[in-house]
Amino acid sequence: MTGPPALERLPALAVDEGRLEQLFGRHDLLPLWIAEPYAPPADAIRSAIEQRASAAWYGYETRPSSVKAAFWEWMRNRHGWSGDGLSTIVSPSVGTSIGVLIEELTEPGDGVIIQPPVFTDFKPLIVAANRTVIRNPLVITENAYQMDLDGLAHLASEPATRLLILCNPHNPVGRLWSEDELRSAARICAENDVTVVADEIHADLALPPSRFVPFATVARGTNLMWAATHGPIKTFGLAGVCDTLLITDSGGVASRFKAASNRLHLTRNNVFATAAFEAAYRRGAEWLDDLLDLIESNMNRLKSGLPEDIGVMDHQATYLAWLDFRDLGLDVPELAEWLTASGLALSPGHWFGREGAGFARMSIAVDPATIDEAIRRLNQGCRRLGRHPRP
Ligand SMILES: Cc1ncc(COP(=O)(O)O)c(C=O)c1O
Repeated sequence: MTGPPALERLPALAVDEGRLEQLFGRHDLLPLWIAEPYAPPADAIRSAIEQRASAAWYGYETRPSSVKAAFWEWMRNRHGWSGDGLSTIVSPSVGTSIGVLIEELTEPGDGVIIQPPVFTDFKPLIVAANRTVIRNPLVITENAYQMDLDGLAHLASEPATRLLILCNPHNPVGRLWSEDELRSAARICAENDVTVVADEIHADLALPPSRFVPFATVARGTNLMWAATHGPIKTFGLAGVCDTLLITDSGGVASRFKAASNRLHLTRNNVFATAAFEAAYRRGAEWLDDLLDLIESNMNRLKSGLPEDIGVMDHQATYLAWLDFRDLGLDVPELAEWLTASGLALSPGHWFGREGAGFARMSIAVDPATIDEAIRRLNQGCRRLGRHPRP
């Protein structure tokens, strides 16, 4: 399995030298730090955008209802999830949805729980809104991460705690939360009147046999206030083009989000977003299947080539490998420096919270030759440390 032909080369734009220089102090690194497929989009998406461009009319356009219909058809086919009875609201980005919901559903000083190590944008959104970041770190058992449900129950019971941001699948550690785990988190939050925002933007990147369980499955019909974020941006590498969706069955959440959206004028449409969004969901399945195959084979490739002193945590979803460097005995700045000196731009684990120290995140949605090159550089780096490279 080699993946779609498009994945056999790194698109030049993914190698953003200015950004590499800014983040890592060097531009000559193998760039694997962004949570995106390092690949051109599916042909169906590109041709939909090209076709829309050729229409040469870029004025106001009503978003057709077929956009949301395409999303729900996709969800039914791939995840057996029906949107019956759910509100589906367009939002410019996941960050916008979470930022607006923090403002709308909590008050300054209120507590918002995150579960680090976790996606970097949550904390700044909470801080920028003058809310309090409440950390419920994930726990490691064996080679996998678990949610600390006792910790969650304790923190949710604090009167100032109003919101939980749940990441499912969890970036960066690659966990898909099970129905039991989600049900427990939902129950705890419902009992304590804590709203849940489930960021499910990586949902389509569940790797078989693991299955994505929508938070809606456990939240519907309960008295829990909740919302979930979705969209094609991560799956299909469309963050520079597409809108996202907010899904909920909580009337209060839907009406407050819509009111804020109208007030802030977040409803403006982009004609290319519409074309790309619908093409992804109607004609992107084969491309995604190839991508999932590639992720699986790249993960196996990585595991078999990594130096003995570097591990990889159990992985159920996303194109992100969470590498375990703890056996190298390097502190946070030493690990970051060692990665750079090894010629690799990975996301050092501490970017995701202090619990990420000793780890780093690597995108594996790349051509297999790039995985081989990353393995070579990691082995070479270990040799420099006098550690154990693969023989
Ligand atoms: C879990 C998660 N949520 C949200 C985003 C970003 O979404 P947006 O750019 O729409 O704010 C990312 C990007 O990597 C992500 O990994």
